[in-house]
Amino acid sequence: MTTRVQFDRNGDIDELHTAEVEVPETGPGQVRVQVLYAGLNPVDLTILSGGFGPAKGTRGVGMDFSGIVAEVGEGVEDFSPGQLVFGGYPNHSQAETLLIKDPEKRLDAIPKGLGTDVAGGLYIAGRTAISGIRAIAPAAGETVFVSGASGGVGIIAAQLALGLGLGARVIGTASADNLQLLRALGIDAIEYGDGLEDRLRAAAPNGIQAAYSTRGEDEIALLLGLGVPADRINSIAAGPEVAEKLGVHTSGEAVAQRGDLAWLAKAIAYGHVFVPIGGVFPLTEVQDAYRFLRAGHPIGKVLLKMAPKPFTEEQRTFLTS
Ligand SMILES: NC(=O)c1ccc[n+]([C@@H]2O[C@H](COP(=O)([O-])OP(=O)(O)OC[C@H]3O[C@@H](n4cnc5c(N)ncnc54)[C@H](OP(=O)(O)O)[C@@H]3O)[C@@H](O)[C@H]2O)c1
Repeated sequence: MTTRVQFDRNGDIDELHTAEVEVPETGPGQVRVQVLYAGLNPVDLTILSGGFGPAKGTRGVGMDFSGIVAEVGEGVEDFSPGQLVFGGYPNHSQAETLLIKDPEKRLDAIPKGLGTDVAGGLYIAGRTAISGIRAIAPAAGETVFVSGASGGVGIIAAQLALGLGLGARVIGTASADNLQLLRALGIDAIEYGDGLEDRLRAAAPNGIQAAYSTRGEDEIALLLGLGVPADRINSIAAGPEVAEKLGVHTSGEAVAQRGDLAWLAKAIAYGHVFVPIGGVFPLTEVQDAYRFLRAGHPIGKVLLKMAPKPFTEEQRTFLTS
């Protein structure tokens, strides 16, 4: 049995609860993972509310996770027990144990230098950031705008834009409390909210060449008004109809490629990209975790942490001898 987060019907955060469920035997080609951290994403709440269609019966929750390979089935060669791994298991990841049926698609090894905490929140935000940056392809010397640059997706996208465009400038928006963090990452940080247009004109007197928008239609209209070409704007929040009407890209998580996560993991390990963890909650406090995320100011990623397991015999011997 394992403890997992689930809901029985569509609704609000108070529909989320933990339950004990059976985990089947590890079959051929499958990998059993003891989860360490599981990430939260705004899309989980859209699914919970029925935004992607009604739930048919009880459903699991969550996309991102990291953990330790506990067991591998016959024929698995790329993973072995004890290995640290991370990845995505859509609508299932928030559980103490996962049985991954297609590990070759869902798992990557955690490289040296990347913590299991950060790895546990990368699947959606990391792949979304990479896909959108590919779509707008920041070039050397360009000025790039990234909104919500202190959030899960934005903080990764802003640093990718900075690293990609040699000599590029990245202007990122955040609340006053998070401007310092963005400046530490090399991002020209400005506050969102009233007066944003004036601040952008002052910050980029020679114009903005590309933009990664994590907000809605109003922001895209503002960017177009500032002269950013529509085909250099990527929106992950305005929705496909608005994007089509305005002619901007909507490259998000759905068009990410296998290999993106492994690449990002190394970029983080080598210090090109910094991903802060804004909140860590026990699995049993999943409702509070989602309320914190929904408040809209998470600072990077929000994680559920699984209950720690007792030390192994070997660890105990080391500590006591
Ligand atoms: N299409 C896709 O594939 C895809 C994938 C992932 C996410 N998304 C969508 O992308 C959006 C961002 O996701 P996320 O995971 O990065 O969210 P998040 O982690 O909750 O980040 C929210 C960001 O928005 C900023 N913010 C809060 N209130 C704001 C306001 N009034 N005006 C401007 N900025 C404000 C926050 O800044 P402070 O914390 O500094 O206040 C923070 O940087 C969400 O709408 C999500 O649903 C789409």
